[in-house]
Amino acid sequence: MALAFPVQMRDEFFMNGSYRLIRPLLFCMDAERAHGLTLRALKTGFAPVQDQSAHPSLTATLWNRKFPNPIGLAAGFDKNAEVIGPAFRMGFGFVEAGTVTPRSQQGNPRPRIFRDPDHEAVINRMGFPNHGMEAFKANLERFMETRPRPAGVLGINIGMNKDQADPAKDYCLLVQNLATMADYLTINISSPNTPGLRDLQTKNAFIELMGRIRATRDYACGQYPTPLLVKFAPDLTEAQREELAEAALQSGIDGLILTNTTLDRPLSLDAGFAAERGGLSGKPLKDKATESIRAFHRLTKGRLPIIGLGGIASAEDAYEKIRAGASLVQVYTALVYQGPALVRRLQEGLARLLERDGFRSVADAIGSEPAKDSP
Ligand code: FNR
Repeated sequence: MALAFPVQMRDEFFMNGSYRLIRPLLFCMDAERAHGLTLRALKTGFAPVQDQSAHPSLTATLWNRKFPNPIGLAAGFDKNAEVIGPAFRMGFGFVEAGTVTPRSQQGNPRPRIFRDPDHEAVINRMGFPNHGMEAFKANLERFMETRPRPAGVLGINIGMNKDQADPAKDYCLLVQNLATMADYLTINISSPNTPGLRDLQTKNAFIELMGRIRATRDYACGQYPTPLLVKFAPDLTEAQREELAEAALQSGIDGLILTNTTLDRPLSLDAGFAAERGGLSGKPLKDKATESIRAFHRLTKGRLPIIGLGGIASAEDAYEKIRAGASLVQVYTALVYQGPALVRRLQEGLARLLERDGFRSVADAIGSEPAKDSP
């Protein structure tokens, strides 16, 4: 239920950079409390309404889905599918809700999210806290009944419960229940905070898992199979990437999401922050994530669409991911540091960069960077 904020005042407040006024208040709090407050504000309508389709050059069609623009909200922000509508209204072309697990779980003890404002970075070791599949479904149904329903593409990101010994069981249960409600599904096998999860990023485990998931998806969806994407970590070696690129092509999945958070700790980070366990995101992840996109784009010969993310904080960063091989991009950490005006800034800047370089659409710019060894 939206509160009656004077709409123009609210939008101007955010657009003229006034997130800078709110940010110090949010940053006084524990990061997870601040996030909870942000979700509540979004639910009550305290977020700017920004156009999703102001720039015709930014529209994209992938997997038969029409994206009003290529900028998406990354998984982890809306774990329980509570603010899909407000996120679309904020201007995102697509929203990835989750990670949702079959049963609700608490995740790791708090505190478990840490900020480093100097480097615009975050470390999190959440461990998939969420209200479980049934609550997620109920929230999703509520969103589906919204009239008018905002445009945009909806992804659902799925993961296994911490105590599941047979991961495929959890993934298949989620696919069975959620596949027909999503425009695409993301199989998350790259969170560093669930023991054993990243082991699924080996060729044999991957192929076996994807075989079972695909069969379930085909059975659940019938004639119109929901596209299946897989999200990988940035910490794969070149040999692992080669193996997984081949396995991804073989397994018949529809796309890749690159990348999740990293276990790396660049030396430039403050020692106290760097000592926190968990996955690092934001600016220090940017180049590593881009390198991963570049590698998978090359290894799959551009045959698998890539959603690129990791440290995107400006239109230039988004454009760099696209030129390295991404078809679409997502953000999370930069939203913490820049607030909702980031979405419009990315749209405007990206449209300008495409025009500057003579590209008529995002699709024309995908993978267009010069090869590394060319002059
Ligand atoms: C995440 N991320 C994440 N990813 C995912 O697939 N499922 C999840 O539940 C979460 N949860 C989560 C929580 C928090 C607090 C953060 C900061 C991140 C990872 C996220 O989607 C993204 O892959 C990385 O954060 C890299 O992008 P940014 O943040 O550098 O734009």
